[in-house]
Amino acid sequence: MPYWLGLDIGTGGTRALLIDEAGQVRHAHTAPHEEMRMERPLWAEQRPENWWDAALLAIRGVLSIANANGRQIRGVGLSGQMHGLVILDAAHRVIRPALIWCDQRSQPQVDWINRTAGPETVLRCTANPVLTGFTLPKLLWVRDNEPKHFDRVKKLLLPKDYVRFQLTGEFASDVSDASGTALFDVVKRRWSFDLIDQLKIDRDILPTVYESSEITGQVSDQAARDTGLEPGTPVMAGGGDQACSAVGNGIVVPGVVSCTLGTSGVVFAHSDQPHYDPAGRVHTFCHAVKGAWHVMGVTQGAGLSLQWFRNQLAPSSDYGALTAEAATTPAGSQGLYWLPYLMGERTPHLDAMARGGWIGLTAKHTRADLIRSLLEGVSYSQKDGLNIIEQMGIPIESVRVSGGGARSEFWRQMLADVFAKRIVTLASQEGSAYGAALLAMVGTGAYSTVPEMCKAVIHVVASTDPHKNESNIYAAGHRVYQSLYPALQPFYRGVPSTSKSPQE
Ligand code: XUL
Repeated sequence: MPYWLGLDIGTGGTRALLIDEAGQVRHAHTAPHEEMRMERPLWAEQRPENWWDAALLAIRGVLSIANANGRQIRGVGLSGQMHGLVILDAAHRVIRPALIWCDQRSQPQVDWINRTAGPETVLRCTANPVLTGFTLPKLLWVRDNEPKHFDRVKKLLLPKDYVRFQLTGEFASDVSDASGTALFDVVKRRWSFDLIDQLKIDRDILPTVYESSEITGQVSDQAARDTGLEPGTPVMAGGGDQACSAVGNGIVVPGVVSCTLGTSGVVFAHSDQPHYDPAGRVHTFCHAVKGAWHVMGVTQGAGLSLQWFRNQLAPSSDYGALTAEAATTPAGSQGLYWLPYLMGERTPHLDAMARGGWIGLTAKHTRADLIRSLLEGVSYSQKDGLNIIEQMGIPIESVRVSGGGARSEFWRQMLADVFAKRIVTLASQEGSAYGAALLAMVGTGAYSTVPEMCKAVIHVVASTDPHKNESNIYAAGHRVYQSLYPALQPFYRGVPSTSKSPQE
């Protein structure tokens, strides 16, 4: 039986997934990553070599589960956590661990870019304000703090593109992932040499950029020996994890919106034109669909909030047990609020200095309230993103959910109630790895366009409607939640900078 392989280099692990000729998921296997290294608050690093090791385990694992051999794989699609900085030297060795998407150390470099090029130029060239999470300020952080490393940089890659390099030997990326570098002209779908030259970045370090379903190279002999794939298997450009997740959710035409609850939480809408929020609170990026764009709002600490809670306060509980405990206390968590700013925040505050926490604790509160408020806080944050998308004139009838958070029926109902919208569940909730595999199908000619393929293979299986009573409680709770960030902002400004340790 022929298969297409989707590979998603996430934050927690790398997932390999096989789909069949009907575009249906047949087998999947995940290899976990090392924990992200957080040397200081709001810093986050991972080793690209660990992603490649995980990719090998995931590919070998899924082939073995499927009892398949490399010759059955028609094509490979790649998806990955966005924005991470991978830098290679002249011998194509990794120079230092990657600064990943949620790393917030680069505010001084964001300020430098805005002083040097001007925020209007950045917006004109890249369609977005530059943020600490994006790749360019991370590169400049290395320039300013580790000049010995910076002097050796010969190639800059995004996380999935490092795995592509290992698979094919090619330096390539795709339009959706390149959009999150702050070096890419999102409107013209090519590197912004205007900005790149103005900031004196070496053009040669950048990979070649393709549309997401284009072929960027073939599995090399060495990678074939390492993975069990066949030499010469085509590898498609693929996309950033959010664009791929949108493909997997069928968000490839106007009118449907998705909410993906992974480590981050993302609300995502397709658009036929580059649409902007004048305040830049949601990103305007290229879609993995040729000739289309998308807008997305990002909660930095979505699944991360629950993961942090479990790791620190309930190490012996699984996520199912935690959400079941949350369900034992009523909507509104008895007046307790969680601010999910564990890694600063993007939408709507664009504030690298924001910090998380509970507000409203009393002696009456229980652990169930702590957990429920945490899910509610993440849901309120995602609602802020949806509101901005609606204010931009993009209609939202229903929201398709995917990612780890979507597996919980309790959280799906909460999202329906907080959003006051119908939540739609698809036959496959796989998201990013599925989207990557679907892009591989289009790239190898099984379908001619991504929307045509999504129409044929993506099916709605269930929906969850909002409960009026809970929706009213959450509407009031959301207003209180929205009042907390402005009240706390002066405090965040006073927290010592994370770029320096107390001894410095
Ligand atoms: C999107 C973003 C995250 C990461 C990790 O802009 O930063 O969603 O891609 O999943």
